[in-house]
Amino acid sequence: MTDANHDPVAELVGLGLDRREARWLVEEFLPGGDPDSLTVLRGAAQRRLDGEPLQYIIGHWPFRSLDLDVDPRVLIPRPETEGLVDVALGELAAAASLAPLLVDLGCGSGAIGLSLLDELRVRGVAATLVALDESTDALDVARANARKHHLHAVSFVASSWFDALDSSLRGRVDLVVANPPYVGASEMQTLDPVLRYEPLGALVSTDEGGVVGFGDLDLIVRESLGWLRPGGSLVMEHGEEQRAPLIELAKDYGYVHVRDLDDLSGRPRTFVARRPS
Ligand SMILES: C[S@@+](CC[C@H](N)C(=O)[O-])C[C@H]1O[C@@H](n2cnc3c(N)ncnc32)[C@H](O)[C@@H]1O
Repeated sequence: MTDANHDPVAELVGLGLDRREARWLVEEFLPGGDPDSLTVLRGAAQRRLDGEPLQYIIGHWPFRSLDLDVDPRVLIPRPETEGLVDVALGELAAAASLAPLLVDLGCGSGAIGLSLLDELRVRGVAATLVALDESTDALDVARANARKHHLHAVSFVASSWFDALDSSLRGRVDLVVANPPYVGASEMQTLDPVLRYEPLGALVSTDEGGVVGFGDLDLIVRESLGWLRPGGSLVMEHGEEQRAPLIELAKDYGYVHVRDLDDLSGRPRTFVARRPS
């Protein structure tokens, strides 16, 4: 029997957990206050105290309209990436296509592409999504998230960027979205240690043209042009120092409507450009 006056949140706070996180863990692992779950709750609290991200311990996390399953096979979807979806929806609305073809490069948990499908469905737009990732583990997570949210108009492709994409799609894609790795290997040591729990291949890119972590961004700008339909858009997340080189590269390559937007914290974050019509 457990003490009816026992306050599990207070117990976890006493162990050193932040009160908000303690509440999340209690809601997740002690639903209805089931005393048999106390051992599980304490195990989860210990994992958090050992440094593991809360999202992996809980096993799911909200991203816009979706509750996504997440585990160490995928990057934890970030709040700043939610804004990229708004920008992408704006691009699609401007193009007014009723059945757009979308490609999510490096889909991870499926956060960006599946959110788009879900939110377009609500707007009556019958989009089709190709979600690709070089990690087959990540694709398994994304596939499970698509099933969880009854999103069926999606195919999953194991591919290094565009390498394995069906060549019949060249010149036909309405929207390419990507949140590629953009942290330099040298920067990893200086960042939050919690990042070490996430897949390295989701975070770190090579340097390119003297810009730290720019390798994948650079490749995606160069290669997307051949896959977009005339007037189609590329919307891509990036790091703070990468705005100027991205804009320069896109203009050199002949993209039009080249823009770059800040995230909610005022940091350079979302690159947008269109293939000329
Ligand atoms: C920063 S994570 C983004 C995940 C997800 N799109 C999101 O926003 O939460 C980058 C993703 O790109 C994938 N990736 C890295 N290199 C890749 C490559 N060469 N080709 C395809 N995907 C790649 C990683 O496996 C990872 O899932």
